[in-house]
Amino acid sequence: LRIEWDKEQAEKDGYEHYMLKEIYEQPRALRNTMTGRIDEAGQQIVFPDLQLSTETVKGIEKIYIVACGTAYHAGMIGKHVIESLAQIPVEIDVASEFRYRRPLFKGKTLTIVVSQSGETADTLAALREAKRNGSSILAITNVVGSSIAREANHLITTNAGPEIAVASTKAYTSQLIAFYLLGLYLAQEKETLPSEERKSLIAALQKLPEQVETVLAHAEGIHTFAQSIKDEGHLFFIGRGLDYAVSQEGSLKLKEISYIHSEAYAAGELKHGTLALIQEGTRVIALSTQAELHEKMVSNITEVKARGANVLGIALEDNVELHRSVDDVCLIPSTDALLTPILSVIPLQLIAYYTSVALGNDVDRPRNLAKSVTVE
Ligand code: AGP
Repeated sequence: LRIEWDKEQAEKDGYEHYMLKEIYEQPRALRNTMTGRIDEAGQQIVFPDLQLSTETVKGIEKIYIVACGTAYHAGMIGKHVIESLAQIPVEIDVASEFRYRRPLFKGKTLTIVVSQSGETADTLAALREAKRNGSSILAITNVVGSSIAREANHLITTNAGPEIAVASTKAYTSQLIAFYLLGLYLAQEKETLPSEERKSLIAALQKLPEQVETVLAHAEGIHTFAQSIKDEGHLFFIGRGLDYAVSQEGSLKLKEISYIHSEAYAAGELKHGTLALIQEGTRVIALSTQAELHEKMVSNITEVKARGANVLGIALEDNVELHRSVDDVCLIPSTDALLTPILSVIPLQLIAYYTSVALGNDVDRPRNLAKSVTVE
């Protein structure tokens, strides 16, 4: 018996599309991002390649995070992580805005640029603008020899392996891991987090690849859900805090490859305008993974349901209360509140993927888009 494989098929490892392969590669990618950056006892973050001394870390007065698209969405989580762990104020900008808005550089600033390819024109220009203004630059990128990696003063490589599909998946989750490691490292050097809390967060971080495997192994229902939304004209994602940031990413992924119009809203903003769009049968995906915001989310879900919305809830497995307020539910394993985005984004990636497949779209090469945007 001789099985003929063409080159592309072989590279896809038997998966129908690169995107699906890359979604399933996430547990390995996340392990690779962590490799060599946590000490053997699981107590400390070690960043041999970063070269940010304790003294430099203690002197940072402000951080800018600058990126585009999915990398920007990873930055939204990064802001939350760094502010809550290391207590350094963080401002985040889309690179195409940052480069022209003349941001203020006062005191010691660190500018973090995030880019899978390391070649995005706007992000590179923002890096140069920040450098010109005297800021130190830290790049988080997947491509070691890229322009952004070469021009930065400090570098965290995500080590996720090549990402071929235009829709970014494993690059996003490995960027999140990079932010968790960085946040913990800054907190460790600044002594802003009790060591017991750091250890427990590191242990939770190390469990994530296995938990992603669990989410992927229980993804059958998503197929059916994708079939049910494929003919919709509009869809809404809602969430609060970290869940709002993940909603943005879920909405971008769906638009990018299914071409269905969707919007992500901070759930508390609904009544300031968006609620007017909700009518009988409107499809809403509601993320509720943050225990302290759960009650507020239930009340937002109740608001949209009262206007006839059909709601899919994405919640932690122990959140029984949410089951009663939604039409369908997708459960993810429990973890530390700060780490939930890594798990909650997986169903959203799969929803986008299966919807695109159901519509017969070119999943890996969506219309009008390029993998790396090297022109303005
Ligand atoms: C993600 O699915 C997109 N294709 C896009 O938003 C991408 O993340 C953006 O263009 C930034 O690319 P970069 O990470 O290579 O800089």
